[in-house]
Amino acid sequence: MEYTRLGGSGREVSRFGFGGCPLGGHGWGDTDERRLTAAIDAAFDAGVTFFDTADIYGLGRSEELLGDALQERRGEVTFATKFGVRRENDVTVYDNSSAWMRTSAEGSLKRLKTDRIDLYQLHYWDQQTPLADIVGGLQGLRDEGKIRAFGVTNLNPSEISRDPVEGLVSFSMEYNLTRQDRTEEIRRSEAGGLTFLSWGSLAQGALSGKYAAGATFDPADRRSRGAYSAFHGEGVARREHAVSRLRAIAPNYPGRTLAQLAVRWILDSHPASVALVGMKSPGQVVDMSSAFDWSLSEEDLAFLSMKGGSSAENGLVGDV
Ligand SMILES: NC(=O)c1ccc[n+]([C@@H]2O[C@H](COP(=O)([O-])OP(=O)(O)OC[C@H]3O[C@@H](n4cnc5c(N)ncnc54)[C@H](OP(=O)(O)O)[C@@H]3O)[C@@H](O)[C@H]2O)c1
Repeated sequence: MEYTRLGGSGREVSRFGFGGCPLGGHGWGDTDERRLTAAIDAAFDAGVTFFDTADIYGLGRSEELLGDALQERRGEVTFATKFGVRRENDVTVYDNSSAWMRTSAEGSLKRLKTDRIDLYQLHYWDQQTPLADIVGGLQGLRDEGKIRAFGVTNLNPSEISRDPVEGLVSFSMEYNLTRQDRTEEIRRSEAGGLTFLSWGSLAQGALSGKYAAGATFDPADRRSRGAYSAFHGEGVARREHAVSRLRAIAPNYPGRTLAQLAVRWILDSHPASVALVGMKSPGQVVDMSSAFDWSLSEEDLAFLSMKGGSSAENGLVGDV
């Protein structure tokens, strides 16, 4: 396993971030909790110490499963969770108010069975609450000892401030071979000392090459929605372009899967980053853990990074 430091916090975390979105099922259809729990165990055994979740994932169940599975190993792992989106009468509500931040943090602490959240992230900005108020609320939670540090997701940190923000250690956005239009913007924020966490590292599984162009999903699976661009409209051609490039270099890496190559591209393009990958089974954990401790050649990295197949527009709003 490879490790990196979380921004200025000095905390060491694995560069393989266990993506806890499928835990609890909501938005991913029928998921088997015993298999998911075995995936958490397999990740820990493979050296993964960074576990990403959100209050909204599985409508709270994701945090519960992680809290239960890792309770006895709590001192060795980093819990990253998020607030700012909730469900009310079956409707998604974006709420970054300080009242909801506090309620949400208390709920996450309980579900994760911990007394401090290691990394607390703003999930989506509600476009209403002033960013300075959100940062102030997060710094307050940190001063009370309820969180160690905080991060933002789906928001460029420069929107908060051009200067370093005390306590802000990470930022996260969807990033993979089909989203290369973000590379420079990410590098600029990294240069400011923040750790980048890529989500959608496999374009929701599409970059593994296992889904044919016309693949359809159960309505309960988020990938049935048009917003998940790798599976719909022009996005299919973009991801096929990326998959064909992965297939072209695959013979240079015998035994490596396309999913490993796709994640390796992120790790090598951003050497201090963490790649979050959504995990559904121990087998996927084992496959993904083989993406670490080696590198793409400079030539292949450049080949994968060539323009084409990237999208500046992405309809994804709210992963709930
Ligand atoms: N901050 C945010 O707004 C935000 C948004 C979304 C996600 N995230 C975080 O980022 C994580 C990852 O993002 P994501 O779940 O959207 O997408 P992803 O990591 O690109 O794709 C995950 C999916 O890929 C498939 N998969 C996983 N490992 C595989 C392997 N080795 N080979 C082939 N297929 C594999 C699985 O689905 P199948 O087996 O069904 O194909 C899995 O659910 C999430 O779990 C969450 O922690 C954050």
